[in-house]
Amino acid sequence: MASIAAATVRPARRMKGRVGLSGDKSISHRYAMLAALANGRTTISKYSQGADCAATLDCLRGAGIDVQTRMENGGLTAEITGLGLRGFRAPSRPLDAQNSGTTMRLLSGVLAAHSFVSTVKGDESLSRRPMARVIVPLELMGARVESHDKKPPLTIHGTRLKGITYRPDVPSAQIKSAVMLAGLQSEGTTTVEEPAPTRNHTELALRAFGATVRVNGTTVELEGGQELHGGSFVVPGDISSAAFWLAAAAAIPGSDVEIHNVGLNPTRTALLDVLRRSGAIVDETIEREAGGEPSGRVRVRFDQVHALSLREADIPALIDEIPALAAWAAHGGELHVTGASELRVKESDRISALVRGFRALGADVEEFSDGFHLRGSRKLRGGHADAAGDHRLAMAFAIAALGAETPSVISGADSVAISYPDFFATLETLSESL
Ligand code: S3P
Repeated sequence: MASIAAATVRPARRMKGRVGLSGDKSISHRYAMLAALANGRTTISKYSQGADCAATLDCLRGAGIDVQTRMENGGLTAEITGLGLRGFRAPSRPLDAQNSGTTMRLLSGVLAAHSFVSTVKGDESLSRRPMARVIVPLELMGARVESHDKKPPLTIHGTRLKGITYRPDVPSAQIKSAVMLAGLQSEGTTTVEEPAPTRNHTELALRAFGATVRVNGTTVELEGGQELHGGSFVVPGDISSAAFWLAAAAAIPGSDVEIHNVGLNPTRTALLDVLRRSGAIVDETIEREAGGEPSGRVRVRFDQVHALSLREADIPALIDEIPALAAWAAHGGELHVTGASELRVKESDRISALVRGFRALGADVEEFSDGFHLRGSRKLRGGHADAAGDHRLAMAFAIAALGAETPSVISGADSVAISYPDFFATLETLSESL
């Protein structure tokens, strides 16, 4: 996302209050795509209000799907009329995934099973991201994918696919999901054997739409040709957005923050355990389950601050939360991260841009090829940090700036619209000024 707008963040005394969130980004993408492949109409309440999930809806419209949206009960509702498996229409122009890797990778799996040629493009950031990880399995299934040296735009020559057994090199829910969405529309059985567990929203959503998915440890398997049925779904709040408030509460003395209606799927809650390890008091209450997704309340109170170390095995379950944990450390903690080279191929090179931004705010940061070491201070100098167009870095720098001696400027702050358009309004609500 090409973003220039800057935000000024003033130091805060502490974080206090109770807030809800927009719907989970990962779950929103999946419900929308499955609704488009289902028979009948699907209503999705509390659909993510971020630009990434809007890009998914626009891509679906471009492939002939009827998608209506409206604001309802303070949330966004999407109503989608599915065209059934392999029922998309050939798009008359390239589909634009904008900044969204999930849109491009999952949609590629869907489109590969359609017997037409389609192109999926993205913005400058997405155009730099690796796509071999989905091109390879989709070609093994029978599709042909043209790319620019395995980067977007992707031109997908779809066909009648055959199920495969696939072992991705990297643990990635996006790869698993692209293969499963193709497998759903293929002949025979499709199996994905993951190198490490990743978020399981696709498996749960497929079941919620009526499909049978077998799961055994890190292996998932489904039969092609299972018809999906539309229905009513509610998306829980996005724990990866909540992460910034929870990290701030764990970092700033006197803080007490509660988030309600937040998704608490165990493949997404590793952050809560890490914050407990960091010395915070973390209470988690599951209140309901819908579509297999548990959700409820999380409360974090400041208590102690212990240094944190994250290794390769910890990373897949925390991949989107590392910027928030770095912001936690910037307040006077210490965070050591290794085995996280996947961060280099996110919306930005999330290692080098993170190191640059936290240094600009006064933290002591060392960069490694696969991670970083950050030592913060209770009296961070503050300064001017560039989010490099990356929504999670913009939010992380803003949280770090709450602990600085002077107001800080975050450039590229408008990128928060990717996943959390209300971020700065909520920051005002939760931060008590000095
Ligand atoms: C996502 C999976 C993760 C995550 C991304 C969303 C998903 O990416 O970083 O924000 O919805 O499946 P990878 O699959 O590349 O790890």
